[in-house]
Amino acid sequence: MSLFAPDKNLALELVRGTEAAVMASGRWMGRGNKNEVDRAAVEAMRYMLNTVSMNGLVVIGEGEKDEAPMLANGEALGTGDGPDIDIAVDPIDGTRLMAHGLGGAISVVAAAERGAMFSPDNLFYLDKIVTGPEAADFIDIDAPIHVNIRRVARAKNKSVEDVTVIMLDRPRNNAVREEVCKLGARIRLIPEGDIGGALATCWDEGATADLLLGAGGSPEAVITACAVKCLGGNMQCRPWFRNESDEAIAKERGIEKHTVLTLDDLVKGENVFFAATGASDGDLLKGVAYRGEHIYTWSLCMRGKSGTVRYIEGIHSPKKLSELGSSIDYGPKHPFRK
Ligand code: FBP
Repeated sequence: MSLFAPDKNLALELVRGTEAAVMASGRWMGRGNKNEVDRAAVEAMRYMLNTVSMNGLVVIGEGEKDEAPMLANGEALGTGDGPDIDIAVDPIDGTRLMAHGLGGAISVVAAAERGAMFSPDNLFYLDKIVTGPEAADFIDIDAPIHVNIRRVARAKNKSVEDVTVIMLDRPRNNAVREEVCKLGARIRLIPEGDIGGALATCWDEGATADLLLGAGGSPEAVITACAVKCLGGNMQCRPWFRNESDEAIAKERGIEKHTVLTLDDLVKGENVFFAATGASDGDLLKGVAYRGEHIYTWSLCMRGKSGTVRYIEGIHSPKKLSELGSSIDYGPKHPFRK
């Protein structure tokens, strides 16, 4: 039986998980060790999410593709005595950015009612199109790229040359990039992190891009879909296969090259929640900062049903947290007084 209380804003609790993830993994910033960044984030997030009153099930874990430490699919999260919830996590989206001391990494978690989230399983990549509320009704992943860009331009009352397309800088996206180039629209390439990239298209004001295009991770697509729902934008996806074996595996579950996944296919309903905290400084959020005896975090919390978006600045005391019995390793309590 689902005990879902629709007025509970889970995002406000989930954000403690993303805060914990960045506070722990932030100690590994720039030290070149991607696995330690991930491990610290995963352990801290798991610890914190296990305190939330919910019967959570990890539907989207992360790490399978690159064999990083992960919160595994099928893992139970939470106290077990609350609502039945699907959970999608990316303890650090942009692990490589963090490991190399670069900006734009965030920690994210999304939640929805049990059974609401698409499960990517062995489908590693999806071709994505994302835009914000103004152009939400005008995108169509089956239409040519130039058509989509023109429609977005018209919806946003700007010229094609003023449209900014954001995409992951990957060889697999070169053809898309060339088409956008030919049309004369602007391109913003991001090295990692297409969840943040997609969100850049979704703000009324201050949007740094108009449209996200190109193939990126499937788990990230489901998490992005939760955020896009909260913000009133739109998103569609289509499988992007690395090889014939990917294609054959997908076919077994009825997913073909041309299958389109709509926003509702990615996550059903409006009862969705999204929380993110900045790991390293980026457009979306400032990265975790260690100042004196406190740790500062900047987060974003959203709820689909109400459409409320909250920015939360956290000031944390690692000393008090460890006195409370937290098992999370936030690093030295007095970094300059050994
Ligand atoms: P992680 O840091 O969680 O591994 O993901 C980073 C990321 O850039 C995602 O934002 C994106 O969807 C995916 O990797 C793209 O995968 P790949 O790096 O294999 O092209």
